[in-house]
Amino acid sequence: MLDLIASWPGEFVVTQFDQPTGTWIFIAIHDSTLGPTLGGVRMKTYPTPVDALRDAMRLAEGMTYKWAGLGIDRGGAKSVLAVPHPIQGEERRALFHRFGRLVASLRGAYTGGPDLGTTPEDLGTIQEETEYAHGWDHEHDRPLDPGPYTALGVFGGMRAALRHAFGSDDFHGRTVLIQGVGDVGLPLAKVVREAGATVTLTDVDQVRAARVAKEVGAKTLAPEQAYTHKCDIYAPCAVGATVNAKTVPVLACRIVAGSANNQLGEPADGDRLHARGILYAPDYIVNAGGAAALPSLSKGADEADVVKRVKAIEGTLDEIFAEAKAQRISPAAAAQRRVDRVLAEGRKRRG
Ligand code: PHE
Repeated sequence: MLDLIASWPGEFVVTQFDQPTGTWIFIAIHDSTLGPTLGGVRMKTYPTPVDALRDAMRLAEGMTYKWAGLGIDRGGAKSVLAVPHPIQGEERRALFHRFGRLVASLRGAYTGGPDLGTTPEDLGTIQEETEYAHGWDHEHDRPLDPGPYTALGVFGGMRAALRHAFGSDDFHGRTVLIQGVGDVGLPLAKVVREAGATVTLTDVDQVRAARVAKEVGAKTLAPEQAYTHKCDIYAPCAVGATVNAKTVPVLACRIVAGSANNQLGEPADGDRLHARGILYAPDYIVNAGGAAALPSLSKGADEADVVKRVKAIEGTLDEIFAEAKAQRISPAAAAQRRVDRVLAEGRKRRG
């Protein structure tokens, strides 16, 4: 673990071991060049605490690029609560209260939001301890769920990818595989279906997959068949690293565009996709809709304004695909160049 921290290019890691629940808590602050950091709070069980720390670090880096890609002046961070087993009820609330006090002690250097394994209600509990969290609107007593906005951003990204790959963004006659029907996968399945595509769903929870399939008019597939399923668009909307040295050779899609964070196992997978002629919508660009929406939603911004910000993702992807084509590089590399430019400008401004 010490080696991992020593070799990390990020800024710092806040660590706490929560005695009552046996939870390792890590807040990874990756880069505050563009502003105070903002990133989701993930709750999950991990094989070891080191795996949790590594996840926090990689996700924090992704958030830095997500803000840079959006042109929003926030820095990248993520927190992970590595619970030994699922925690519910009062014990869960007490854990989030303690976590909230930890966040409060950072005095704004980090702000949290919902992520895999945490709900708007959980964020509401954190907000009872600190103003530096988004997810629950205490004024109107309602959840602020970024999921549908993330889905809307991915949908726009799919349209840009369809235009680039096929010359038309018509979803009729197109086949889309959505892996994971959670907070984003479900609303995404609905809009893609409404646009006219044939939709196939997978989820580790097969009962849930079947229920959602019936609700939206889709088919289901066993989770392990996701990678070899022939389709136009593969949309990873669950865990990360599903696009890797093992899956890329067998993928039978033309486009990868989904909401999961850290979809590539390693940066080289972006080039592997490119070499196979599979168009990749870089994850931190295409899945930034929730991030684009959440801070302004909490401030009570106008809904039309928020939707406009989310819809801008489609144009950003058009530019990235065009740059990739002109420079003969992968879209993953083009996106990286783009956010590196934004960060370099930010550093210059800061002096
Ligand atoms: N967890 C989501 C994401 O990674 C939504 C989110 C955005 C949460 C910004 C907090 C801050 O984009």
